[in-house]
Amino acid sequence: MNTITFIGNGNMALSIAKGLMDEYKIEVVGRSEEKLDKFESELGIEIEKHMMDGFNINAKTIMFCVKPANVESVGVRLKGKARVIYSVLAGTSVKKLKDNLDSEAVVRTMPNLAASVGLSMTTLTGDESFKDEAEELLSAIGATRWLNTEKELDIATALAGSGPAYLALIAEALADGAVKQGLKRDDSMLIMRGLFGGFGGLIQDIHPALLKDGVMSPGGTTAAGYAALEEGNVRSACIDAISKAYEKATQL
Ligand SMILES: NC(=O)c1ccc[n+]([C@@H]2O[C@H](COP(=O)([O-])OP(=O)(O)OC[C@H]3O[C@@H](n4cnc5c(N)ncnc54)[C@H](OP(=O)(O)O)[C@@H]3O)[C@@H](O)[C@H]2O)c1
Repeated sequence: MNTITFIGNGNMALSIAKGLMDEYKIEVVGRSEEKLDKFESELGIEIEKHMMDGFNINAKTIMFCVKPANVESVGVRLKGKARVIYSVLAGTSVKKLKDNLDSEAVVRTMPNLAASVGLSMTTLTGDESFKDEAEELLSAIGATRWLNTEKELDIATALAGSGPAYLALIAEALADGAVKQGLKRDDSMLIMRGLFGGFGGLIQDIHPALLKDGVMSPGGTTAAGYAALEEGNVRSACIDAISKAYEKATQL
């Protein structure tokens, strides 16, 4: 069994480790023994745990899961040269990673929150010679897509990385609207969840415009509701959301 070494023991590390633990040996590097123990108990299997200071990454396959602001401070605490570093850090360039961490190769990966339920949409870019390995590793937590440039990865971050938050806003707002009209809160939440579950399946095969046309009968209820969304500039707000999130990703 090959070993994957996680640097960082937060939420994203745990989600990815859950997907990989059946196929790979898991090793975790952190800065608090208590948090390393918690990580192990949440994973539910015995793993190798190490403190970060002076940890030797030589020839290791690293899953780098700290925060973007920690790259420099973590880099100086590690020694040796990794085989490859897979970074999940939002907006952190291959150059910055290479400047602060010694590794033969670097691949940036951008998973999303659905990694915790094995349904992440993960984008990847970086050293082409690790494309196949990156896709195989990250497919343990959902779908993957290799992109050719870091700019594309930053745009994809705005779409799929941040996307769960945008859809959560829509989901909550629609449920609130139903409550406003008199539907009970628990009925409203259950129906909204069912809606998103079904929609998740439909959108895999049907173009969004055709989906909308299929449900919108002339002069009907959907047409009335849909017009209200357009009046509220939801389309334009979504386009702006991607633009602002992309801009932010390039400034981290
Ligand atoms: N959550 C998402 O949906 C998502 C999606 C895509 C990408 N990402 C990326 O994933 C990365 C991790 O996110 P997360 O949700 O896993 O965050 P998290 O749960 O807060 O975990 C952050 C990790 O970084 C460590 N850390 C924080 N400050 C540190 C420091 N000064 N020195 C050393 N280690 C430090 C933490 O250690 P302690 O446990 O000891 O505090 C923890 O292990 C971020 O870079 C984010 O951009 C997240």
